[in-house]
Amino acid sequence: VLSTLPYAWYSDPEQLRREQEAIFRSTWQYAGHTGQVADPGSFFTTVAGLTPLVVTRARDGVLRAFVNVCRHRGFTVAQGEGRREALQCPYHAWTYGLDGSLRAAPRANLEPGFEAEELGLLPASVGTWGPFVFVNPDADAPPLEEVVGPMPEQVAALGLDVDRLEHRLRSESEVEANWKIVCENFLECYHCAVAHPSLSKSIDVSFDAYRLETDGLVSTQRAPVRDAHTEEYDGEGELPRGQFHFLWPGTAVNILPGRPNLSIGPINPVSPTRTARFLDYFFAAGEDEAWVEQLLEFDGQVGREDKVLVEGVQRGVGSGALAEGRLLERSETLIAHFQGLVSEALSG
Ligand code: FES
Ligand SMILES: [Fe+2]
Repeated sequence: VLSTLPYAWYSDPEQLRREQEAIFRSTWQYAGHTGQVADPGSFFTTVAGLTPLVVTRARDGVLRAFVNVCRHRGFTVAQGEGRREALQCPYHAWTYGLDGSLRAAPRANLEPGFEAEELGLLPASVGTWGPFVFVNPDADAPPLEEVVGPMPEQVAALGLDVDRLEHRLRSESEVEANWKIVCENFLECYHCAVAHPSLSKSIDVSFDAYRLETDGLVSTQRAPVRDAHTEEYDGEGELPRGQFHFLWPGTAVNILPGRPNLSIGPINPVSPTRTARFLDYFFAAGEDEAWVEQLLEFDGQVGREDKVLVEGVQRGVGSGALAEGRLLERSETLIAHFQGLVSEALSG
């Protein structure tokens, strides 16, 4: 039986600082969807770990990402999302083009030697897979295609064409738990039969049926249908099973069986014991509203159940009463893989 990571790593501010540098500063996270930057002259803000980022599409049509921190004294330059020719920092009105260059800084002309060309927003990396936009705070990151690896193929093989999906809504949530607890909860369905009654009626969560697999930075869970017509969820449609992916360090992808659907979003630390996430939900164009509502309620119920679980784990591991826990090597193999990546990143 394997040991978990040390429980001290789940509430220590110094540990989160190390993870921020060793993990989140140079990994890819889901940021938003291409519809948010469809037109030249548009932008949206996001975070990767604790790093604020802004994704832009300038007049030249190029998609770019920058660290959304003013080069003057550090205010977040862009807020929310929108359409604009330039981004003006609300603090002292330094103004940046959507290409990141510093265009204007009030009174800079009074400063001899003020080098505007060296004070553009720091570049970050951006990439897309279908309608999904990913960012990496590291401007020299390996391309997204290398990192998402087998995921696009696995999704296509399931019968889902992501290019035909339309963004329908974003659901945001915060929980009182360390980000790793939220990831670990996502990475096993050992708890499903116990904690998710409606989910377990629809999909087969038994050890023999429910498949776990890792391939590089992507972990995949395959969930056959148990009953396509439960009271809570109509899983009849072209997708023959559920498929859940996790891209290290914190992007979750959920596909439920039935009609075309996908939700995707990042898991981001806010503090050592608080985690923010959002899920962007995508469906086929013109999908039946009643079915969409049913899926959202079904998924929302699972989310409410998971919130109770992760917050309970945080209270236990954060109490300091135990030094570590145990992992079932077969049923929790994806957590073991995740914890290996955490340890590796911190020792590297
Ligand atoms: S901090 Fe942005 S203009 Fe001063
Ligand atoms: Fe769960």
